[in-house]
Amino acid sequence: MDLGLKDRVYVVTGATRGLGNAAARALVADGAKVVITGRDEKSVADAASALGPNALGMAADNAEPDVAARLIATAREHFGGFDGILVSVGGPAPGFVADNTDEQWQAAFESVFLGAVRLARAAAGELDAGGVIGFVLSGSVHEPIPGLTISNGLRPGLAGFAKSLSDELGPRGIRVVGLLPARIDTDRVRELDGLSADPEATRAANESRIPLRRYGKPDEFGRAAAFLLSPAASYLTGIMLPVDGGMRHGF
Ligand SMILES: NC(=O)c1ccc[n+]([C@@H]2O[C@H](COP(=O)([O-])OP(=O)(O)OC[C@H]3O[C@@H](n4cnc5c(N)ncnc54)[C@H](OP(=O)(O)O)[C@@H]3O)[C@@H](O)[C@H]2O)c1
Repeated sequence: MDLGLKDRVYVVTGATRGLGNAAARALVADGAKVVITGRDEKSVADAASALGPNALGMAADNAEPDVAARLIATAREHFGGFDGILVSVGGPAPGFVADNTDEQWQAAFESVFLGAVRLARAAAGELDAGGVIGFVLSGSVHEPIPGLTISNGLRPGLAGFAKSLSDELGPRGIRVVGLLPARIDTDRVRELDGLSADPEATRAANESRIPLRRYGKPDEFGRAAAFLLSPAASYLTGIMLPVDGGMRHGF
């Protein structure tokens, strides 16, 4: 199947590693052009050069208020267009209810929540029919994850925001989609497993609860993201796609 990605231009934030990077790789592999971000200048330059000439890196923090305008302008200047955005970002601080400080909630609100809202709002103002706005969220949209209280608090709200946006943008032919990873084998998931006394046992216990009995590979997530962002998914909007090996219990 031709995904129709050739020469389409996407912004992918939080894409020097992990899920954002996997999505950018899959997009570029099918002919798209990407502007990728992360906060660390050198990681951004390295990740962009690893992706090749159809990728441009820009050091940017999703919590910065003007980041969206800069990214969209860069996409237009460098690649001559702007067809969509995938918002990924570092996960919020882990912790149970009593552990998380106001500062941690505030920082996560700025980067994970308000950052995503601002990026999506700016993209909505710039996209034409056929454009797409994607969010990397979490299985916590549907089911709270023990020890990730801030994620459990913020992600369902973002899913609500994404649904509102899809209602508003649908008449203009702009799609809004979300991806809900659970256990994809990235630095973030290794760090979370590393918080337990026995990370290997924690991973094995998690894997035993996943119907496919293993963590996902970043490329498996990247391919799902590239499809949802592509013209091949032209009738999909307002949806949250679990990419979780079957871990979500509900339908
Ligand atoms: N992996 C999973 O299975 C899973 C499951 C559920 C939810 N999620 C969520 O999905 C998102 C991506 O996860 P991941 O596994 O890819 O995480 P990751 O491996 O930690 O990678 C995060 C990426 O985002 C960048 N980043 C972090 N903070 C940023 C910011 N404020 N502005 C711009 N870029 C930023 C990082 O680079 P710098 O640090 O250099 O900025 C890195 O490129 C996270 O929000 C995570 O909570 C992941």
